[in-house]
Amino acid sequence: MHAISITINLNTYIVDIFEKRVANLGPLGMYGAKGDGYFMFPKLEGEIGNKMMFRGKERLVWSLNNYLGLANHPEVRKADAEAARAWGLAYPMGARIMSGQTIYHEQLERELAAFVNKEDAFLLNFGYQGMISIIDSLLDRNDVAVYDSEAHACIIDGLRLHMGKRFVYPHNNIENLRKGLERAKKLTAISGGGILVITEGVYGMSGDLGKLKEILELKEEFNFRLLVDDAHGFGTMGATGAGTAEAQGVQDGVDVYFGTFAKAMAGIGAFVATRRDVVDYLRHNMRSQTYAKSLPVPMVIGSLKRLDLIRTQPQLKNELWTIVDTLQNGLKDNGLDIGNTESPVTPVFLNGGIPEAAQLTIDLRENYNIFCSIVTYPVVPKGVIMLRLIPTAVHTPGDVEYTIKAFADIKNNLASGKYSSGIFPDFSKL
Ligand SMILES: Cc1ncc(COP(=O)(O)O)c(C=O)c1O
Repeated sequence: MHAISITINLNTYIVDIFEKRVANLGPLGMYGAKGDGYFMFPKLEGEIGNKMMFRGKERLVWSLNNYLGLANHPEVRKADAEAARAWGLAYPMGARIMSGQTIYHEQLERELAAFVNKEDAFLLNFGYQGMISIIDSLLDRNDVAVYDSEAHACIIDGLRLHMGKRFVYPHNNIENLRKGLERAKKLTAISGGGILVITEGVYGMSGDLGKLKEILELKEEFNFRLLVDDAHGFGTMGATGAGTAEAQGVQDGVDVYFGTFAKAMAGIGAFVATRRDVVDYLRHNMRSQTYAKSLPVPMVIGSLKRLDLIRTQPQLKNELWTIVDTLQNGLKDNGLDIGNTESPVTPVFLNGGIPEAAQLTIDLRENYNIFCSIVTYPVVPKGVIMLRLIPTAVHTPGDVEYTIKAFADIKNNLASGKYSSGIFPDFSKL
């Protein structure tokens, strides 16, 4: 008898991950071919300000988080340029813990901590990675996290690393937060862990505020620590610009304060501020900082200048809020729905599908020369179009008046069916 031998090449059955990925580009990627360069990855050119160039034409820009107008402030530009000339962009080389420490990093940390009224602070290379590591290093598997459903992606990604339990509560729903805390209390009674509540100060999409005061009222009963991501509140909210908790009169109740330089500071980098011994713990344990290069000194010196301007020139914040108030009141008076914003972030909610949103955006950009961010499903529910305006100190009353009128037109156009052909427009033909 002869044995029959069959050889199977197992490699034929292994899916190629490249092929798998490019077959499904994801909820945004699927519009890449039609939308990149216009709706996504647009190139805004020229000096950062209220007016910039887009596809060769000047547009009124409402999509930059340059709240206080610091991006192009002459003193900021000078400080950045002088520091870059003096130090170069490479210095210091290495992570803070190895060879990347400087007196400037330490000075900025001292000044930031004093500004937000905490004992100490530590710089983060990017807010995003920093937040991931704050959560990762604060929690172990016995701890429970309780967080708001609209938390920023960096909070969600930090929680993805968390090996213990986490409970989400519907956005700003304090009743549900309480339920989450009750469950957390039961679990930690068994595990011996602690509880971390995470919220944002200003919610960056809708502009409403985390209910810090109400959250803190639960602290005595549930003995948690509170982490606040105040990316959009730092520099814009509160009497001194120290953020949302200052605005709500509860700065002392915030256990861990997080701010980024990417918004009001018009730079890059971020910081975490808390009790000195906890900062000490964090700076030795945050993996995204221990295993990554230190912020370049020109960025740090530039940030010292920005912080100085925030502290000493309150008129920047006043100018911002004058623009915010006239814009938001004018939109409301013209029947536009701006949701529950209590911050400079100004959403305008309309109804329509993605093709309508795209046509409306083209009308705004090409016929009104207004450039703002547009948000559709999956970030907002299906059928909702959110246009997001970010007022800044460098916008003028004329910009506001013009924009309110344009938005009133757009709303009427949408209602009259001007954008409802159902066709996703091809901007390359514009
Ligand atoms: C609420 C919130 N948290 C964190 C971040 C991340 O900050 P960074 O841009 O410094 O990485 C952002 C920025 O988009 C944000 O809006």
